[in-house]
Amino acid sequence: MALYSCRLLTFAFLGWFLVKLTTAEFGEHSCFFAGALEPTQGGVEILIFFYADTRHTNTFFSSDIKKPGTGAGTRPTILSAEAVYCKALRPNFECFLGYDAAPMKVLGLETSCDETGVAVFDPDRGLLAQALHSQIDLHKIYGGVVPEIASRDHIRRLLPLIRKVLGDAGMERPDAVAYTAGPGLVGALMVGSGLANGLGLAWSCPVIPIHHMEGHLLAPMLEEDAPVYPFLALLVSGGHTLLVAVKGLGLYDVLGSTLDDAVGEAFDKTAKLLGLDYPGGPALAVLAENGDPQAYTFPRPMLKRPGLDFSFSGLKTAVMLQVKKSAEEGNTDRVRADIAASFQCAAIDTLVTRSIQAAKQTNLDRIVVAGGVGANLHLREQLAERFDGRVYYPRPEFCTDNGAMIAIAGALRLSDGSEPATIHATARWPLETLIPPGSANPA
Ligand code: KG4
Ligand code: ZN
Repeated sequence: MALYSCRLLTFAFLGWFLVKLTTAEFGEHSCFFAGALEPTQGGVEILIFFYADTRHTNTFFSSDIKKPGTGAGTRPTILSAEAVYCKALRPNFECFLGYDAAPMKVLGLETSCDETGVAVFDPDRGLLAQALHSQIDLHKIYGGVVPEIASRDHIRRLLPLIRKVLGDAGMERPDAVAYTAGPGLVGALMVGSGLANGLGLAWSCPVIPIHHMEGHLLAPMLEEDAPVYPFLALLVSGGHTLLVAVKGLGLYDVLGSTLDDAVGEAFDKTAKLLGLDYPGGPALAVLAENGDPQAYTFPRPMLKRPGLDFSFSGLKTAVMLQVKKSAEEGNTDRVRADIAASFQCAAIDTLVTRSIQAAKQTNLDRIVVAGGVGANLHLREQLAERFDGRVYYPRPEFCTDNGAMIAIAGALRLSDGSEPATIHATARWPLETLIPPGSANPA
C-alpha cells in the first residue's frame, strides 16, 4: 500500500483495486479512512505504509476496519516500509509505524530561477548548513536569464550541493525534503521537483512542495528576532511585487500586486538602459549612491489611485525617454548616476507609500520585507524613517533566492500539521490559493 502525501492517497491492494482518494482531510477523520478501506480490502491482515508520516498515527490506531461480510471489527497489523526491514532483521519485531515524532530536519531545495540553493533546517537548532550557487556568470552575456541554460545548470549543481550541505550539517539524510514547486521557470522547477521526489522515495521521507513567495515571506523567521503573526508582507522580487496580510502560516490575503512589471524587473530593465550588467538591481543601487535623487522627477504611478496595486511600466518608459534625451545631450557618468538615483527614489517611494497605506488599512504594525529588492538600502532607510511600526528583514543573503527559506518553510509546514496540497512543479501559482497545513483542500 502506498500512502502518498497526506491528502492524495493511492491504495493499491495486491493488484485487486486502485482507489484514488484525493483531498480527503485524512489526518482527523479516521472513520473516513476505515470507510474507504472497507469495500476494497477484503480481509487485509497487514498494511504496509510505504510513505507514511507521524501525524497519521492516531488515525490508524483509532479505526477498526471491518472485515467485509462478518461485520466484526478487526485491526490489521500496520507496518511502515522501515518496519518491514526491521522485521526482516528482528522477527519478533511487532509493529513500527511512521517516523519519529521529534522535530524533523528538513533539506530545502530552491531551483525556481537562476540560483541553486540548498540548506538544512532543524527546528531545534536552527539552520545547520546552507550553500548557494549563482548562475549570474552564465546568463550575463545574454543580458537576462536563459531558461534552458538555467535548468541544465541546476541539474549539474544540485546533487554536489546537497552532498556538501548534508556533510556540513553532519548528517547522511534529512527527515524530510522541501523544494520550490512554483512559481518560476518550469524547467528549472522540474529539476528541483524531480530530485526532491526521487530523494523522498529513496529515503522514505515526506516531500513538501513549497510556494516560492511563501519561502520569501517566511525567510525572516530564520533570524533570532523573528516576526510574530499577524503581519504585513511586502514581497519584492524579480517576478513579483505583492502586499500580503499574513494572518498565519498559509493564511494570506493578497492586498495588492503589480499590474505590469515587478519592481525587481523595473530595476533590472532600467539598469540595462543605463548600460549596467545583469542582474541590474544591485548595480543600479550602487550607481545611485553617487547621483542626485531630485535631479529628475519620475512618476509614481498608481499612488493617487485607490486600492493597493502597483504599476512600474510608466516609470520605466519615463526613464527610457530620459535616457534617450540625455544620450543626445551627451550621457555623462554624472547624468547616469542622477537617472539611477531618481529612478530608485521613485520606485522606492511607491513601495513605501503603498506599504504604509496597507498597514493603516489592515491595522498591522509589523511589516516583513522579503525578496531580492528587500536588500535595497534606500528601501530600508525610507521604511525606517516613514513607518511607525517595526520592520523585519531576512539577513541580506536570504533576501535573494536561497535554500534556507525553503527549508524553514518546509519545517514550519511539517510542524504545524502536514504537507500542502500535492503539486509538483507549476510556473504560475497564486499565493492566495495556499492553505494552512493540515486543513482541507476542497476538490
Ligand atoms: O528574490 P530574487 O532573488 O529572485 C526572484 O525571485 O526574482 O530577486 C531578484 C531581484 C532582481 O530583479 C534584482 O535586480 C533585485 O532582486 N535586487 C535588487 C537589489 N538586490 C537584488 N534590487 C534593488 N536593489 C538591490 N540592492
Ligand atoms: Zn525569489
